[in-house]
Parts: sequence; structure tokens; C-alpha cells
Amino acid sequence: AVTRTFSIIKPDATRRNLTGAVTQKLEEAGLRVVASKRIHMTRDQAEGFYAVHKERPFYGELCDFMTSGPVVVQVLEGEDAVKRNRDIMGATNPADAAEGTIRKEFAESIEANSVHGSDSDENAKIEIDFFFSADEIVG
Ligand code: CMP
Repeated sequence: AVTRTFSIIKPDATRRNLTGAVTQKLEEAGLRVVASKRIHMTRDQAEGFYAVHKERPFYGELCDFMTSGPVVVQVLEGEDAVKRNRDIMGATNPADAAEGTIRKEFAESIEANSVHGSDSDENAKIEIDFFFSADEIVG
């Protein structure tokens, strides 16, 4: 089925001017960008978005990193969008990411790993709603 997922192009990628290169990989993987905006996340947004990781040792650093520069938040649409996006992103740790994936090609480290993608349809909806209103999504 055609579904939607949520993506973030992270500060390490925007800093290196890789917004287009990352988006091209997403599009080549069969995903369509149906919403996109460049924002500088506030601390509150980063802490809220990553609240599920609150107890993890890397939570503070993760929020520091995600507020360290601009990000591009996107809604992606395509056949089986969550899985399709996860496949093209590659493993969280670039050292484990497969050839041809975004993280293998572009990520700097497990933290500065260039992209975020939703891990389930349920979380995709929550994450899309966190950053976008319905009128900002044009399918
Ligand atoms: P993301 O998909 O955005 O979801 C949580 C993020 O936490 C993850 O990508 C990584 O950027 C980061 N992360 C996960 N594990 C670690 C770790 N061990 N150390 C630092 N950051 C991590």
C-alpha cells in the first residue's frame, strides 16, 4: 500500500550542503517528498521529539546535536514508505550500514548519522503530526 513516513535531514548533512544529495537518494528509492521545510529545532522540540529516548545515556548529546544547526523535516510517500525509507537510510551506525545507503555514503558517526526515519506506521503518524499541519502536506 502507498503510505507515508517522516524523515529528518540532520545538521551534519545540512552543514555539508547535502540536502539535495540526500533527497535524491530518497527519490531514487521510490519515495516522493510531499512536504518539506528547513527549520532550526528548538530545545523543546528536540526533547519532545526524542522523548522515547529520555532515559538513554546519549539523550542530552542527541538533543544538543539536533539543535546545533538547521534540519530539513520531510514527509515521504510511497509504496511501503517506512520500510523503503529505512532500507535506503541504512543501519543507525554508519559502520554497519550497507553499500549504497545514505548513512554509508554520508554519515559521520552513530550520532551525526545524516538522517532520521520513522520506525513504524504508527510512529510515522505521530512524528508527521509533531512537525506538520495537514495543509502543509501536498500529495
Ligand atoms: P535516530 O533515528 O534519529 O533516532 C535516535 C538517534 O539517536 C539515532 O538516530 C542516532 O542518531 C542516535 N543514537 C542512537 N544510538 C546512539 C548512541 N549509542 N550514541 C549516540 N547517539 C545514538
